Amino acid sequence: MIIAIDGPAGAGKSTTARALAERFGYAYIDTGAMYRAVALAVAEANLQVPTDNERIAALARTLPIALKDNGQRIYLGEREVTALIRTPEIGALTSKISALPEVRHIIVQQQRDIARRSEQECGGAVLEGRDIQTVVFPDAPVKIFLTADLDTRAQRRLQQWQEKGEAASSQAAQQDITARDNRDSTREVSPLQAAPDAEHISTDALTPEQVVERIAQIVQSKLTAQQVRAVSL
Ligand code: DC
Repeated sequence: MIIAIDGPAGAGKSTTARALAERFGYAYIDTGAMYRAVALAVAEANLQVPTDNERIAALARTLPIALKDNGQRIYLGEREVTALIRTPEIGALTSKISALPEVRHIIVQQQRDIARRSEQECGGAVLEGRDIQTVVFPDAPVKIFLTADLDTRAQRRLQQWQEKGEAASSQAAQQDITARDNRDSTREVSPLQAAPDAEHISTDALTPEQVVERIAQIVQSKLTAQQVRAVSL
């Protein structure tokens, strides 16, 4: 079972994907964290977009990105980078790095490998990102496109910053979200978009539990259909 969850920043993808993974005993794969890990390595190597694009791709190819603790902790080799990849600076750089076709090609391949391995090991994977249902797993049985109002998303972003002790205003959060949305939706390679057969869920008027419940029902009906098909073969 592959559950593909896409949507703009702050729509509630991480909370939802984590809860679903726990509920079904599947792997949780935060694909944005993988692009963030590349961006951190790029920043540390002092490489620049677009002048060093080839070196950035070469770096991405050899980068030992590892997801541990069921996707909750991100490592580069033996070094944990979970907190380091969450700064606003790395977020902004990630948006640029993730627009590079060579980098996407390498990281998408890794995402497919991790998810397929997880299917073998625990029966499924929940992937969250921007292009999971359109590029990474266009045949995923469950495709969810999560959305929320700009105000709601900016409020969530502000809260995340405040929880990390960073001083920020709601205006800055709105600007950050709007800039990120624009870049992610208008880039040439794998722009953020819903698959034609995606289930759209707006999280504004729902609690996180209600969002998870709605998706869990969809997953359950797909699992039942898979079992019926397997028995009749
Ligand atoms: O979900 P996030 O904020 O951690 O994502 C960081 C950046 O990576 C964001 O600009 C979108 C990009 N991204 C992407 O292009 N494709 C994905 N599958 C996941 C994230």
